Amino acid sequence: MMQPDSRQRYGSVSRFLHWTMAVLFGFMLFTAAAWNYDEDYFSLVGYHKSAGFVLMVLALLRVAWALGNRTRRPRSHVGAHIGHGVLYVLMLAVPAVALMRQYGSARGSLEVFGITVLPAAPERIGWLVKAGGWHGSLAWLLFALAAGHILFAVVHQIRGGKIINRMAGRTETDGQSR
Ligand code: HEM
Ligand code: HEM
Repeated sequence: MMQPDSRQRYGSVSRFLHWTMAVLFGFMLFTAAAWNYDEDYFSLVGYHKSAGFVLMVLALLRVAWALGNRTRRPRSHVGAHIGHGVLYVLMLAVPAVALMRQYGSARGSLEVFGITVLPAAPERIGWLVKAGGWHGSLAWLLFALAAGHILFAVVHQIRGGKIINRMAGRTETDGQSR
């Protein structure tokens, strides 16, 4: 069901996107951590690229859905609002600069689970490769902010804010007329 958001809770579409993407981000962290631990695991990069591309498509859908629901989402204080905004920018920028590097390096097309989604440039394009140099640092920044985000959510939940119920489970107002 394509349930929209409301002031009390995120609807099914927002929840699906939030939790599917959270799991996929976990996978991205796992692959990067694995090859930083032992470079043999760089063999996982094909899966990293495929999952990263899927994440970019989901992030675009999520931005569109967030904009469409912006007048009826749960309210949060200005700090959380800015934090979520920065997460959105990074969720788009991290895979985008990776795609720029992939194209500009002219080393091969991008395959997503065996399907070519982006060809390689006919010859190397220096500035695209340079932009791609930001991929790793922006990604680590994204993971650090996501860790802070999770911590805030849990602390808030324990202190009585019950904000996790907006993104999972039921809220106190569920079942009442809205
Ligand atoms: C939101 C999605 C993505 C996240 C969170 C992410 C995260 C990361 C992280 C943390 C690293 C390790 C950086 C380091 O070792 O310092 C990395 C490396 C890498 N990623 Fe991604 N990535 C994403 C999407 C993509 C996509 C779509 C591609 C392919 C087009 C890609 C290709 C690579 C490559 C080739 C490397 C190794 C070179 C480098 O460190 O920059 N990634 N990624
Ligand atoms: C265990 C992991 C996570 C928990 C417990 C969690 C919890 C939450 C909660 C409770 C909200 C609602 C906040 C409110 O109503 O003010 C929320 C929203 C949000 N979360 Fe998470 N989160 C997790 C992982 C992530 C990750 C990995 C990302 C992105 C990298 C993320 C990005 C967002 C964003 C952008 C929002 C704003 C609503 C939206 O546009 O979807 N979350 N999260």
